[in-house]
Amino acid sequence: MVSEHAAKVLVASNRGPVSYTPREDGSLDSKRGGGGLVSGLSAVEDKVWVCAALSDGDREAVRRGVSEPGVRMLDIDASVHTDAYNGIANSVLWFVHHMLYQTPLEPVFDAEFRRQWASYEAYNRAFAEALAEEADPGSAVLVQDYHLTLVPGMLRDLRPDLRIGHFSHTPWAPVDYFRLLPDDIGEQVLRGILGADRAAFLTRRWADAFIGCCTEILGGTGGTRIGVHGLGADADFLRRRSHEADVDQRMATLREQVGAGRKTIVRVDRTELSKNIVRGLHAYRALLEERPEWRERVVHVAFAYPSRQDLAVYRDYTAEVQRVAEDINATYGTADWTPVLLHVDDDFARSLAAYRLADVALVNPIRDGMNLVAKEVPVVSDHGCALVLSREAGAYEELGDDAIVVNPYDVSATAAALHEALTLDDDERSARTGRLADAATALPPQRWFLDQLDALRG
Ligand code: F6P
Repeated sequence: MVSEHAAKVLVASNRGPVSYTPREDGSLDSKRGGGGLVSGLSAVEDKVWVCAALSDGDREAVRRGVSEPGVRMLDIDASVHTDAYNGIANSVLWFVHHMLYQTPLEPVFDAEFRRQWASYEAYNRAFAEALAEEADPGSAVLVQDYHLTLVPGMLRDLRPDLRIGHFSHTPWAPVDYFRLLPDDIGEQVLRGILGADRAAFLTRRWADAFIGCCTEILGGTGGTRIGVHGLGADADFLRRRSHEADVDQRMATLREQVGAGRKTIVRVDRTELSKNIVRGLHAYRALLEERPEWRERVVHVAFAYPSRQDLAVYRDYTAEVQRVAEDINATYGTADWTPVLLHVDDDFARSLAAYRLADVALVNPIRDGMNLVAKEVPVVSDHGCALVLSREAGAYEELGDDAIVVNPYDVSATAAALHEALTLDDDERSARTGRLADAATALPPQRWFLDQLDALRG
């Protein structure tokens, strides 16, 4: 553990670093999560992570007083949390920032929306109150993401002495799209974040979009400073973890499933509507259709892990991914070649195995705050990997020069990019992979977190 900062640091996010599941005997099983924030926060010693109870197991843990040191889980009323998380955060704010609405019919801002918005306010208030209680005088508080946009403003009112930062892990919508939100709600979101001393983003593009919204709607950003911190891949962890025995085992299985001498196009995503998995499959189908020489010579390894399955639109999307993959296999598959190898069950070791094997990585989101898969594959790749990358991913800003860049809506162009990636000369591919890995690891999670803290305190 690096302990460069002695003073207490508070972090707030909807999902915390630990979750609980009841065992048959009534005791609680706890599971630690991963990700950039968990690893970034390991850089500081004296910290409190305030998060929400997300499941019945989590709520039970709070009621029994079970917790991990440095974690405070809030037992917010389940229906308030559902309205705030599923209703507002994931069905409205996520849709706005990723520009996902089919606007002839959606969104509809009616009485039901207002009811859910009141829950979003109550949920944000619960966080602000807990943070106000936990913070020492002058503590730094780092509030995460679109779930908690109102917290900085609320906390500022309760504790003017604190240093408050807000970090957005998503894109930020351009002003014309942001204005889909009812005017008073849009203003409330912007003013909520501007309650922070500093608002930070993953790329310059999202920071500029936020500044654009503040300028057009409020006339400026007030005294709030704006920052950019492009979270990078955790090279040390990934290189070590990807050579453990379970990953080697999964590589052997994958190699067998792919078949000797075949190339692989790998994608690994949470099955979010913004990840564009279905168009990726259509592009692969177009490749097989238009360039039959690839039939039997390539396999699309697609891992589409479950996400937000409480929302019907996510369940439908997962079903569509499965339907299109099955259709491609039924149309083109042969006795010993399965064109698409789709897995929808989460397995981190298998993801790393696929990263190591990949000849081509397909990262084609409609819009994405960063996309760490694009950064992780070049770091882990055994023999060099060509990256097909959407220009709408935050990672494009840092990786665009050495990737084969696509417009994520253009299926034909994506098919052509896949062909280009599959035929990239070996030397060129490995030179690009080296440069991609360097760019991808420029700001590892601990540095990313400490930079934010320094900038907030500075
Ligand atoms: O990818 C953006 C992001 O906000 C992450 O920062 C966060 O971990 C995730 O989405 C939230 O996902 P979930 O709804 O599964 O908690």
